[in-house]
Amino acid sequence: MPRSAPRRRPLPLIDQVGGGRSRATCRLRCGDACFHPAPNTSDNPYFGDILAKVLSRRSALRAGAVTAGAGALGLSALGQAVADPRGPGRPHPAPRPTFVAVRPNNDDKVTVPQGYDHHVIIRWGDPVLPGAPEFDVHDQSAEAQSRQFGYNCDYVGFHQLDDDHALMWVNHEYTNENLMFPGYTDGDSATEEQLRIAMAAHGGSIVELEREGDTGKWVLSEGERRFNRRITATTPLRLTGPAAGHELLRTAEDPTGTLVRGMLNNCAGGMTPWGTFLSGEENFHQYFGGAPATEESARYGLGTGPSDRRWDRIEERFDLSRHPNEANRFGYIVEIDPLDPDSEPRKRTMLGRFKHEGATTRLAQDGRVVAYMGDDERFDYIYKFVSAKRYVEGSRRHNLTLLDTGTLYVARLSGDSPAEEIDGSGTLPADGEFGGTGEWVPLCSDTESFVDGFGVAEVLVYTRLAADAVGATKMDRPEDFEPSPVTGKVYCALTNNSAREPGQADEPNPRGPNRHGHVLEIVEEGDDAAATGFTWNVPLVCGDPEDEDTYYAGFDKSRVMPISAPDNLTFDKDGNLWISTDGQPGALGINDGLHVMPVEGRFRGELRTFATVPVGAEACGPFITKDGRTVFLAPQHPGEGGTFEEPTSTWPDGDMPRPSVVCIWHTAGREVGG
Ligand code: FEO
Ligand code: CA
Ligand code: CA
Ligand code: CA
Repeated sequence: MPRSAPRRRPLPLIDQVGGGRSRATCRLRCGDACFHPAPNTSDNPYFGDILAKVLSRRSALRAGAVTAGAGALGLSALGQAVADPRGPGRPHPAPRPTFVAVRPNNDDKVTVPQGYDHHVIIRWGDPVLPGAPEFDVHDQSAEAQSRQFGYNCDYVGFHQLDDDHALMWVNHEYTNENLMFPGYTDGDSATEEQLRIAMAAHGGSIVELEREGDTGKWVLSEGERRFNRRITATTPLRLTGPAAGHELLRTAEDPTGTLVRGMLNNCAGGMTPWGTFLSGEENFHQYFGGAPATEESARYGLGTGPSDRRWDRIEERFDLSRHPNEANRFGYIVEIDPLDPDSEPRKRTMLGRFKHEGATTRLAQDGRVVAYMGDDERFDYIYKFVSAKRYVEGSRRHNLTLLDTGTLYVARLSGDSPAEEIDGSGTLPADGEFGGTGEWVPLCSDTESFVDGFGVAEVLVYTRLAADAVGATKMDRPEDFEPSPVTGKVYCALTNNSAREPGQADEPNPRGPNRHGHVLEIVEEGDDAAATGFTWNVPLVCGDPEDEDTYYAGFDKSRVMPISAPDNLTFDKDGNLWISTDGQPGALGINDGLHVMPVEGRFRGELRTFATVPVGAEACGPFITKDGRTVFLAPQHPGEGGTFEEPTSTWPDGDMPRPSVVCIWHTAGREVGG
């Protein structure tokens, strides 16, 4: 198939908040996180350690990484590798993506490349559990909603049972009440039933899927659907790990400190090698009001006034003036076992408490499990958990305990260029790249704290403050992580940070302000996920490629496409990085989308757009099946910024906006992107 070079169109810049969100988006999604001063007021340095120390360490690490990287490719990958004209030792996986790129647009639909088709698998309100009524927006109830698909689908996980059957997990991050209810104004005047519907529309869903024929199209199963499940803001969840039961987690409703009702604001996620889903509680602060005026509350953005959502009107646990520990029970990674519909989801305290974007796992060389995690706030941190015990294939009971013991680390990054060469403009330093070294600084194990003044439970409940104390590196809103299945390198999306001043720019966050975000590439020492040292570089500095401050790994910028606000990441099996965005409408004047970028070899940096999502939506998911034939994508909050009466989107059915999950496949059965 011939590849068409994307034609440039002007990129209108409109008023935007933070990276590129509307005011309504900020209030509903993040609890106005960007309208307040960043809650990290620690005096951690923006710059790293002493340059000489860094340079010598980097040389040593790089030597090790090259050797280990070649080993990690394995025979099959090496068999695919082709010589790179820029020199030996730079194999690139084949095939390179060849789809006809989707042009930037403002269309109120999902747009896919020529030769592809898409299908809306499930929408907000569609039945999930037996007995759920068909969706009727004018006759909605909390009881119905608790059996129907929730709102604002974010992470999409996929547990394949066999070639033709699978379980799909979807996070329901938050609710847009002004799009869900006629005449809605605010939480103060909402009816009690509306508040309960919103609570029931949070959480997550599991639905059974089946393949249609021998295609890449997946549809809702017509079978028994015994795995289908809804988890909401009131479902009982178990707190586990070292902080479970601690007095900081005990409340009037739960004196044991081990049983929580609900999960809140679950954003991205990941899958474990033993087949469970991990789901990150992100902007949980917005659900609580009346916080005590403490350092801990301020560091987590918990407000002393009433919350916008006013859930405290029907459940007093959301009023922190009466139940101050309730907020300590949110902000965790939740593990869900899709194969046991009766199991309690587990909030894993060992993985710390912060505004968890998600968690992505990888096995260390000795079989321990490693989870990479971002804290999505301006100037917050990157974390890593390494389990104490090893993964044992086939031992489900054992593996379900792995996330309760181990060590939690936070990242400290140092640049390898002189500080004066990083001026905040995005201009590359003299050595030609933003890059350097890093170390994983231990915060605590399950038995020992490594931070003065903090016990183990304090580290795990007030993780941000513990990380402040060890001088973690302030990043530009760390979002999703994903390791490459081909090289083992790990990628992190840093979505944007308009609050970073030029003088606060450093090599890992080289622009101030950072309106469009960037992507970090991490190579663990010895290619071992459990290593405590790493090298890093920035292969993608996002924005309009015609702007000088963008960088596409050195690739010819006349042949790449615009991207802003990288959020969720995934890989195809050839090792190409797929990046979905959350903020292009405000930042670039174009709809959000799903982009593909090779990260190895001569086409490293050749970013092109594979799909775009409807008006007002961000592009969540994405997930590519093992056979490479299907990509799942979750257009979240279509029409955000409009109202029920005056919608700005009517996707997917032409009547009203409904967050939904779609699958995309090549109509001739080819692998997606290829
Ligand atoms: Fe919910 Fe960090 O995006
Ligand atoms: Ca450098
Ligand atoms: Ca996200
Ligand atoms: Ca985001």
